[in-house]
Amino acid sequence: MIQQLLLGQTLGFSGNPLTGDWQDTIQFNSAGGVLIANGRIVAIGDGVDLIAAHPLAKVTDYGDALITAGFVDAHMHYPQTGMIASWGKQLIDWLNTYTFPEESRFGDKAYADDVAGRTLDLALAHGTTTLTSFCTIHPQSVDAFFEAAAARNMAVIAGKTCMDRNAPDTLRDDAKSAYDDSKALLQKWHGQGRATYAITPRFSPTSTPDQLAALGALWAEHPECLMQTHLSEQLPEIAWVQELFPDARDYLDTYEAFGLLGERGLYGHAIHLKDREITKLAEVGAAVVHCPTSNTFIGSGLFDLMGLAKATVSVGLATDTGGGSSFSMLRTMAAAYEIGQLRGTALHPAQLMWLATEGSAEALKMSGEIGHLGTGAVADITVLDLASTPAIAQRSARATDIWDALFPTIMMGDDRAIKDVWIAGQRVLP
Ligand code: GUN
Ligand code: ZN
Repeated sequence: MIQQLLLGQTLGFSGNPLTGDWQDTIQFNSAGGVLIANGRIVAIGDGVDLIAAHPLAKVTDYGDALITAGFVDAHMHYPQTGMIASWGKQLIDWLNTYTFPEESRFGDKAYADDVAGRTLDLALAHGTTTLTSFCTIHPQSVDAFFEAAAARNMAVIAGKTCMDRNAPDTLRDDAKSAYDDSKALLQKWHGQGRATYAITPRFSPTSTPDQLAALGALWAEHPECLMQTHLSEQLPEIAWVQELFPDARDYLDTYEAFGLLGERGLYGHAIHLKDREITKLAEVGAAVVHCPTSNTFIGSGLFDLMGLAKATVSVGLATDTGGGSSFSMLRTMAAAYEIGQLRGTALHPAQLMWLATEGSAEALKMSGEIGHLGTGAVADITVLDLASTPAIAQRSARATDIWDALFPTIMMGDDRAIKDVWIAGQRVLP
């Protein structure tokens, strides 16, 4: 059995730095080593000790670079890769003007294959090893994504986006076909290799109560699947939901009433929540996903990260490509920091790194498996160059500790900071 030994600075976590004292949760080693066998991390510790104990291991020495768990993007739309950074609209106009016409193209399997492969390669180039994606209403768009991920051995989460109203004819299914197609797709893909299926009603405005109920019934039959959707992103959207569902107590209730609230639920954005919604999300153990570059780009609002963490709601971090304006989880952490500042909290680099790895994995109910630099986890690993551009290098050169060295890369870094990426113990960057 070939063992791989990666040497460098290593950063992992033993707990959640948002809820406790962050210093108690850090596992940092400035001369560390990560031993990999059979695609998993089998030991982690001082580099010199691991070299002595495993003399036959193949060594890759990254010097001062930082070895971390690969980034986990907990909410994105791979079909929107081609239209990222489209100008001038807020949510509903943005969907109608840019998103729906682009998503209409994914009935063409060859086109879906092309965009799926491109998206995953862009993600890897940015150090992201797991993506959680919405597909389109077309079943072949789901096949395209899972096939492309399998070819790269990446752990991904995805599902057929369901919509049976308030969308163009080319993008509408109905309650029965959404149920039937989603069921066939989850039976085909869930648990195949590293694939996880997420039942995916887009959001309440584009599903009739019948469709929401059908998907709720499907989730009850398949509780092993995740369920992903959108929640309380923009104020006009929330007002529209109230008109469409006059009996609902709030936005979350439009899911809850149809069996679409549960522990394995993922609710993207969740910016403008009412107290009842926060209490309920915490009570059932569901997760919300912070999409900071999207929330500023589409003009949605300032996510209350610390308030939700304090209320013990699980929070993941995501690009929300292509409402989000970057494929980079570094840029995404930077935007989370900026939004934190506007809400009066300076998030520590440890908290940002935790969100991009462990936090997202926890939201996906995959803690310990992905997003974790520790024994037993799959060896999905990203190596960060902390001096990747002249601007970052001149700043990190005067750093006094690892956090001061890392923060300029979080704030100013991009794909040039990604020195290497490993997927299940295999190097994947050229
Ligand atoms: N709400 C419903 N669909 C979408 C989408 O594609 N992107 C974002 N940001 N919000 C949504
Ligand atoms: Zn989204």
